[in-house]
Amino acid sequence: MSQRKENLAILGLQWGDEGKGKLVDILAARYRHVVRFQGGNNAGHTVVVNGQSIALHQVPSGALHASCFLTVGSGVVLNLEVFNQELARLQDRGFDLSDRLLISEKAHLILPHHIALDKWREGATNKSIKIGTTGRGIGPAYEMKAARMGVRMGDLRHPELLADRIRQGYEEVRLRLGAEVGDLPSLEAIVEGLIQTAAPLLRYIGDAQGNLMSAWEKGESILFEGAQATLLDIDHGTYPFVTSSNCSLGGLFTGTGLPPKALKHVVGVAKAYTTRVGAGPFPSELLDETGEKIRQVGREFGTTTGRPRRCGWFDAPVTAHACRTNGVDGLAIMKLDVLDGLPEVGLVTGYRDANGTLTTKLPGCISEWEGLKPEVKMFKGWTTTRGITDMAQLPEEAKVYLEALTEAVEVPIAYLSTGPDRVEGFSWPGTFLAEILD
Ligand code: GDP
Ligand code: IMO
Ligand code: MG
Repeated sequence: MSQRKENLAILGLQWGDEGKGKLVDILAARYRHVVRFQGGNNAGHTVVVNGQSIALHQVPSGALHASCFLTVGSGVVLNLEVFNQELARLQDRGFDLSDRLLISEKAHLILPHHIALDKWREGATNKSIKIGTTGRGIGPAYEMKAARMGVRMGDLRHPELLADRIRQGYEEVRLRLGAEVGDLPSLEAIVEGLIQTAAPLLRYIGDAQGNLMSAWEKGESILFEGAQATLLDIDHGTYPFVTSSNCSLGGLFTGTGLPPKALKHVVGVAKAYTTRVGAGPFPSELLDETGEKIRQVGREFGTTTGRPRRCGWFDAPVTAHACRTNGVDGLAIMKLDVLDGLPEVGLVTGYRDANGTLTTKLPGCISEWEGLKPEVKMFKGWTTTRGITDMAQLPEEAKVYLEALTEAVEVPIAYLSTGPDRVEGFSWPGTFLAEILD
């Protein structure tokens, strides 16, 4: 298969779990490099090949392609125990990454006290807002980075300095948790554990920025894999109900050290409906039987935590905001098949505020989301789209719905997904993605 030089970013446009992993896996066959640039093991990216499913959390979703070199950029936060488990699981399934993986020496570590702090905040014994985090220590790891108390992958090359790097953050967490510190290991035990866990990974740590820069300068093709999504972005999402990284386009540049001109296209990934895990605004949420049906048919249970995902209609203002934020060139609409057989399918085109005024603008303050009532336009449902692989097979009713969706978002569709497997779906004729994939 031909390698492409048009570097491409795949970004989530809703609240995560849009199907980014599936699309990255499909495209990875055409790219030399696949790069994660933010997030950590809060992400769960599922790839399905021949009915076999693999969930990736920190390893880029190009893992299944032997021709792909995988990079974990500096914007990522890493749990090394989970990383080792992922590598072992991939190895068991026949995917050997030993000579095609590089982890940035500038990427930060997630440490046991970060996880303890995350869980404590989400627990019942304190009064902080419950975000419904994944409990993986993501927020505290990024906080420590910003507070200049983080530990980076490169620090693992100097084990004698680790205790000093970790001490301040560790003591601050102990102080904060007081008697509720539970079974948090001692500083010495954390350092000892870290040295052991890091040992098999030391060979992968290096200058990811430099390597990517020279790959770009040599014209090798690069695919960037976003984690989470724009509405979970720390700046442009539904703050404070967000994750702690920039999941939108800006995070790609800070999280790799490449300049914007290294990127050609942005594909925004959205489900044909909307889901969200955890707390926070969700104007198009369906709390009725239809929401439950979508959850069951779409298997909307978290890849990482197994939590039921909240389900609702496609929200055009939310997705349009994400498209503008990321400069999306084309939409990948996923899981259309999940809506098969519904008598009617809804599309949220705007919201009415408490005064009855219609708006498509997303509030910039959390309290202003309350009281927004979605304006839902209903469309006639269709029979089946499951597994279809070309436009001619698309039912007329589904076409009408997708046309309305793309008009409301003001971005053309570039890919349509009709099932979890790699082969279920097709690129939209005439688009840049069709050119890349065909
Ligand atoms: P990500 O976090 O964006 O990579 O998405 P997840 O992997 O967490 O969640 C998407 C889920 O939907 C996974 O279980 C995929 O296998 C599945 N999936 C992806 N595309 C489709 C599709 O078109 N139809 C159906 N039915 N499932 C899909
Ligand atoms: P992928 O990459 C869906 C959500 C959590 C919570 C909020 C903050 O698979 O799309 P965190 O643990 O990050 O501090 O939690 O963000 N969240 C996700 N939701 N998909 C994800 O990743 C998510 N990663 C974090 O549920 O609401
Ligand atoms: Mg996911």
